[in-house]
Amino acid sequence: MATCDAVSAPSASYSTAQVVFNRRIADRTHRIRLECPGIAAVARPGQFAMLRIPDRNDPLLARPLAVYETFSDKSTSVPGGLQRSRSFVDFIYLVHGKFTTALQHLTTGSEIAIWGPLGNGFGMIPAVEHLVLVAGGIGQTALLSLGRERLGPATRVTLCWGARTAAMFGDVDDFRDAGIDVHLATLDGSTGLRGTVVDLLDSLLPEAANRSGRSGAIHIACCGPEPMMAAVSRWTAGRELGCHVSLEAPMACGVGICFTCVAKIRDAGQTSGWDYRRTCVEGPVFEAGSIVWER
Ligand SMILES: Cc1cc2nc3c(=O)[nH]c(=O)nc-3n(C[C@H](O)[C@H](O)[C@H](O)COP(=O)(O)OP(=O)(O)OC[C@H]3O[C@@H](n4cnc5c(N)ncnc54)[C@H](O)[C@@H]3O)c2cc1C
Ligand code: FES
Repeated sequence: MATCDAVSAPSASYSTAQVVFNRRIADRTHRIRLECPGIAAVARPGQFAMLRIPDRNDPLLARPLAVYETFSDKSTSVPGGLQRSRSFVDFIYLVHGKFTTALQHLTTGSEIAIWGPLGNGFGMIPAVEHLVLVAGGIGQTALLSLGRERLGPATRVTLCWGARTAAMFGDVDDFRDAGIDVHLATLDGSTGLRGTVVDLLDSLLPEAANRSGRSGAIHIACCGPEPMMAAVSRWTAGRELGCHVSLEAPMACGVGICFTCVAKIRDAGQTSGWDYRRTCVEGPVFEAGSIVWER
């Protein structure tokens, strides 16, 4: 496996990975497992990889996908053993545009170019009594390994996951099997609460509003469409709860060179009050209150 010099993350590598399986798990949603020890052995929760289908010029550029989970055995669904012994990485993707439409047709044994793990991950989230994972759409992919890592005698973990309709939820049992308390919301009411994830937060954490002085006990980790993350950010700010979000900015290089992925981050040192930060290297995880939301 060759190491890519352009990759800025010290543990990142470039490789060609083989597809172990690639199957549909929900409406327009697939799960792909790649044999990729260079990423599986070192990826941290919230990191991502850039993937590209070799021998294709359309799309020419790689696309970012969050590392969903890593495994030591190609046929298991339960991670286990030491991370450094892991060789397999799962990604879950929504069939959306050119790359994901082509990706869904790769079969076992096909090859894919991949570099990672990239980005900062969720490591800055403090130890808290109650970690609430908030996912919108395909945003759950960034959150499973974080929940699994933090769950323990001193920390309970809840997932609030919102989607348009019940058919969009895939492999929810990964979260339940990990011991995470799962709550779903759909806009059409086909499963769980009818409404958005913010409605779900209102119904599950009503006491959060009255817990000034105790708010440090709850922390939110959020990933999904930008308007949803902006709404969750406003919800947490109003309750003085800590919140980190993982931005899904469009990316061209993934390694800090092209500035395609910049987000406006508050910076008191600038006359404008904000400056651009590259989501691929200074993110994708940011403190929610530091982001200048456009919507
Ligand atoms: C750190 C990170 C992790 C991600 N993890 C996942 C994941 O685990 N699973 C998953 O399904 N997707 C994930 N994404 C999003 C995924 O990379 C994009 O949706 C990607 O563009 C899909 O490629 P495509 O060629 O299929 O679609 P494209 O042809 O690139 O896009 C189709 C349309 O969507 C628009 N678009 C592209 N990217 C975005 C974006 N980020 N936000 C809003 N609109 C966009 C384009 O302008 C275009 O109109 C992640 C993104 C980031 C930055
Ligand atoms: S994607 Fe190129 S700098 Fe971030």
